[in-house]
Amino acid sequence: MTRILITGANRGIGLEIVRQYANLDTNHIFATCRQPDAAADLQALAADHVGRITILPLDVTDPSSIGAAAAAVADQVDGLDLLINNAGINPPGETQTFDAIDADQLLFVLQVNAAGPLLVAQAFAELLRAGVRPVIVNVSSQMGSLQRGMSSGYYGYRSSKAALNMITRCMAADLRSAGVLVVTVHPGWVQTDMGGSNATLTPVESAQGLIALFDGLTTADTGGFFNWDGSPHPW
Ligand SMILES: NC(=O)c1ccc[n+]([C@@H]2O[C@H](COP(=O)([O-])OP(=O)(O)OC[C@H]3O[C@@H](n4cnc5c(N)ncnc54)[C@H](OP(=O)(O)O)[C@@H]3O)[C@@H](O)[C@H]2O)c1
Repeated sequence: MTRILITGANRGIGLEIVRQYANLDTNHIFATCRQPDAAADLQALAADHVGRITILPLDVTDPSSIGAAAAAVADQVDGLDLLINNAGINPPGETQTFDAIDADQLLFVLQVNAAGPLLVAQAFAELLRAGVRPVIVNVSSQMGSLQRGMSSGYYGYRSSKAALNMITRCMAADLRSAGVLVVTVHPGWVQTDMGGSNATLTPVESAQGLIALFDGLTTADTGGFFNWDGSPHPW
């Protein structure tokens, strides 16, 4: 059995990753979201795969909810094989311009998109160390890449994903000796609430590429930044 935990599983890319992993009956998925009672699509998916999708509350800004989720998972399994830090926010562009951004807005995006994945990884590290070919995936963005050239705006989002990329590098170094692989990924420009309807990829296409990437990772890949199609992404 492959034991998988994902954050932000109630909609968008996260929900589609759960849907595709649920098609394989050797997977057990801990699908976490802020408000399970309001997660109708995820509840319906879990009802179609009874016993293989466990829905748990988890808000990445709330350490007590992260701890409670880790305890609930530890009650059910003795190891975790894949942690997908998918939850993220990208506030409206007009609030993230050079003129508009303030410290509170900047720090809140950093809290969700950069501190959140780190806190979740810390909470699940013990279970991951007991996993089979354990992997942590941090869902980042091409907008966090320094090598893609200069772009204006989105100060909070861009800096949070750049921070997440550095956190990935640090975690990869820290967890290497325990055999836990850590990578960061750009999921493509995807048709979700965040990506909008003009995006070039469907959630199905993005999740298919990402799952193929996750399933094929080896120790040589730890610390890497990858595109949704498995190609290396510039830092
Ligand atoms: N779509 C794109 O084109 C694109 C491109 C590059 C990177 N990404 C990244 O891909 C990931 C998924 O994006 P998406 O397009 O699927 O976005 P989305 O449709 O907006 O979904 C975002 C998910 O994150 C959850 N979330 C937000 N704040 C949270 C918190 N504090 N704690 C727990 N969950 C929280 C949301 O839950 P609620 O429903 O409770 O708000 C939702 O499940 C994000 O990290 C995003 O930055 C997306």
